[in-house]
Amino acid sequence: MRNLLTTIVLLAVLSHLAIGQVKTGSEPHRPQFHFTPKAHWMNDPNGMVYLNGTYHLFFQYYPDATVWGPMHWGHATSKDMVSWQEQPIALYPDSLGWIFSGSAVLDVNNTSGFGTNGKAPLVAIFTHHNQKLEKAKSDKFQYQSLAYSLDEGKTWTKYAGNPVLPNPGIVDFRDPKVRWYEPQKKWIMTLATKDRVTFYSSPNLKNWTKESEFGADLGAHGGVWECPDLLAMNHNGKKAWVLLVSMNPGGPNGGSATQYFVGDFDGKTFKPYSTTTKWMDYGTDNYAGVTFSNTGTRTILMGWMSNWQYAREVPTDPWRSATTVPRELALKEVGKELYLTSMPVKELDKLNGKSTTLTNVPVREQVDLTAKTGKTTLFKLTLLAPATSDFSLVLANEQGDELVIGYEKSTNSYYIDRSKSGKTDFEKGFGKRHTAPRLSTANNLSLTLLADVASVELFADGGLTVMTDIVFPEQPLNKLFIKSETGISIPRLTFTRLSAAGQ
Ligand code: FRU
Repeated sequence: MRNLLTTIVLLAVLSHLAIGQVKTGSEPHRPQFHFTPKAHWMNDPNGMVYLNGTYHLFFQYYPDATVWGPMHWGHATSKDMVSWQEQPIALYPDSLGWIFSGSAVLDVNNTSGFGTNGKAPLVAIFTHHNQKLEKAKSDKFQYQSLAYSLDEGKTWTKYAGNPVLPNPGIVDFRDPKVRWYEPQKKWIMTLATKDRVTFYSSPNLKNWTKESEFGADLGAHGGVWECPDLLAMNHNGKKAWVLLVSMNPGGPNGGSATQYFVGDFDGKTFKPYSTTTKWMDYGTDNYAGVTFSNTGTRTILMGWMSNWQYAREVPTDPWRSATTVPRELALKEVGKELYLTSMPVKELDKLNGKSTTLTNVPVREQVDLTAKTGKTTLFKLTLLAPATSDFSLVLANEQGDELVIGYEKSTNSYYIDRSKSGKTDFEKGFGKRHTAPRLSTANNLSLTLLADVASVELFADGGLTVMTDIVFPEQPLNKLFIKSETGISIPRLTFTRLSAAGQ
């Protein structure tokens, strides 16, 4: 009997260890290859930085509840951006306020003077949000502050001279994203200031000078501008700058979403090449995404995989929210426009398991692929299809839940329909069909779809059109169908099982 008990306990412990964060029984919607905090509330990714072989992800975190509250910076680290280890909280609220979103830079030249003994400091630049001033109806309750770390992000010291950028009287004055501007050897802060972005510069991260404003009369303005990022990118050997701007509400499919502008930046002013409004992701669940600093020529973004419209109500416990998979960003020209493309980083390939390729698959009505692919909820599907007929991929289960991802020829658009995807009634706008224009003019559609237990991420046409949607099926969506009423032949389809990332 004792032996039996010992074996049972041992097995339980082993199975827990072996499957990492997999807890499908009590946590059916715990993502398996997306970062989630073990418990409590998370929103925006913050201060993402690569340092000595480790990726650091800080994040908006409230450690006392599964809803938003006094903000801290949580912390997680990873060697590959795939499996993440949660670390102790990095920044706590203090007398100046709660710790809102911001960025982190490696101050290689020790411009800030925070470094000691030749060690370059890691400097976090964040918004202090002063709840008392807000309650007192002041309009100056958000301002920018610094903290630094000399032990690779483990412990942080807040700068005694905080705030470094006081509020000039703008109610929404937040989310500093700082980068080094080499031609003029200065730091540039890109800040969300209500309905526009304001650029500041500094020689030392401590003294900031206003350079210019951008966007009051450009782009989408259905909500407040938040979490901007200014990216230096290369396109055909030429430099181009991309300005990301998250906005809530007013996204193309409702709620929060991220638009972007492509243009030039000269250390002072950002000049867009065009006035077309462009969206980084047409799904409803990629918000406040920003890029890692210190990644050399790679531009890698992670977003918060949720939406302010329902983030506080999603049916998960004891945590809320996940990040998107990390995405490699690039530029692509279509007609006269330059667009941002996003694709999953190559590091994710290490999750690849058994793969099945099918060629020239005729689809009339529907083809059940489940027998060929095997039942699994974690997979990557890549597919090539002529842009001549409607078709859809249906992720389903025995209970009748369905998540439909498709292409509609008449509107030349992609869509994700989660109206029958399981639990949807926690918020009235959740169970909807989301659409996205196809931007590519190529004859064939090429799709990459990543499915985790509670999300799908669609990267169409090399990442020109992206859709990220979360779902909460009653049971795992482990069946897969292709449907086409008009009929289609799929030249190539590869289904790859993915394993859980573990933590
Ligand atoms: C974006 C945001 C930021 C702010 C943070 C607060 O989701 O509203 O503008 O800094 O979340 O948690």
